[in-house]
Amino acid sequence: MLYLVGLGLSSVEDITVRGLNVVQKCARVYLEAYTSILMAASKEDLENFYGREVTLADRELVESSSDTILEGADKVDVAFLVVGDPFGATTHTDLIIRARSLGIPFEAIHNASVLNAVGACGLQLYNFGQTVSLVFFTDNWKPDSFYDRIKENRKIGLHTLVLLDIKVKEQSFENMARGRMIYEPPRYMNIETAASQLLEIEYVRKEEVYTDNTPCVSVSRLGSPDQKFVAATLGELSEIESGEPLHSLVILGHRTHEMEIEYLLDFATDKMKFQKAVETEVEAAVELPPPVTADEDDD
Ligand SMILES: C[S@@+](CC[C@H](N)C(=O)[O-])C[C@H]1O[C@@H](n2cnc3c(N)ncnc32)[C@H](O)[C@@H]1O
Repeated sequence: MLYLVGLGLSSVEDITVRGLNVVQKCARVYLEAYTSILMAASKEDLENFYGREVTLADRELVESSSDTILEGADKVDVAFLVVGDPFGATTHTDLIIRARSLGIPFEAIHNASVLNAVGACGLQLYNFGQTVSLVFFTDNWKPDSFYDRIKENRKIGLHTLVLLDIKVKEQSFENMARGRMIYEPPRYMNIETAASQLLEIEYVRKEEVYTDNTPCVSVSRLGSPDQKFVAATLGELSEIESGEPLHSLVILGHRTHEMEIEYLLDFATDKMKFQKAVETEVEAAVELPPPVTADEDDD
């Protein structure tokens, strides 16, 4: 059996009891090490906690050599550990499709993900639209497909969760050209870079999907003891110091419920300015049905 085991967001102890039991009985244990990081635990911490050896699985191993992970999984149990929830990143469905095609049974053991824990900032999960990813820009590569998705979300007043790039096991151009397997230190996008890149694309596209004055929330180290939220305009967030990773950003939609605002104001750097920015958004929006709140909804 192939087990995809969610590790939760922060500490070794965030694994579920069922997840831990599975890890301890598996013949091989892989840790997916490129879409997220367990903020308060190293590979060695995990090995000590599980009492098992853990093999780091980089992008190359998972995406191009997945047969190594799946080898013999029709006869023995193999665990594939994913920070957050196994379905919180788009890449792991590939591994399942490959397992299925080889006739290997699989089971997912779920856990908290950034995609649901983000509700801790006070914005209702029911009011989020499409999630987007933002990659590090280079001088000549500035992919902006996120802009159209944010536009769609904002048209109908929904919030957008922006996930930020992580670069691990990257080679410098020179090392790559010379075939040297030397890797750069890992890089994690911070809030100030994310906000600046978002604004950079707005200045080029000029469709007023969002502006300097758009209300946002920065979400840092969610699920850890030093979790932090900052409610501010996008322009303000481009100038803050967000500190240690991991970070995400939420761009508010105009259907923001008053309870969401009340909750968020506690995290505002400048409460009056933030409230004004939200009111400006709401006034500019077209008439739409009232937002759904958790207590009005049956789910
Ligand atoms: C590709 S997603 C993987 C999500 C993970 N599988 C999950 O279910 O939570 C990784 C991105 O999510 C965001 N993220 C993940 N964990 C986070 C956390 N604890 N706090 C803030 N952002 C987080 C960061 O932007 C990070 O680069």
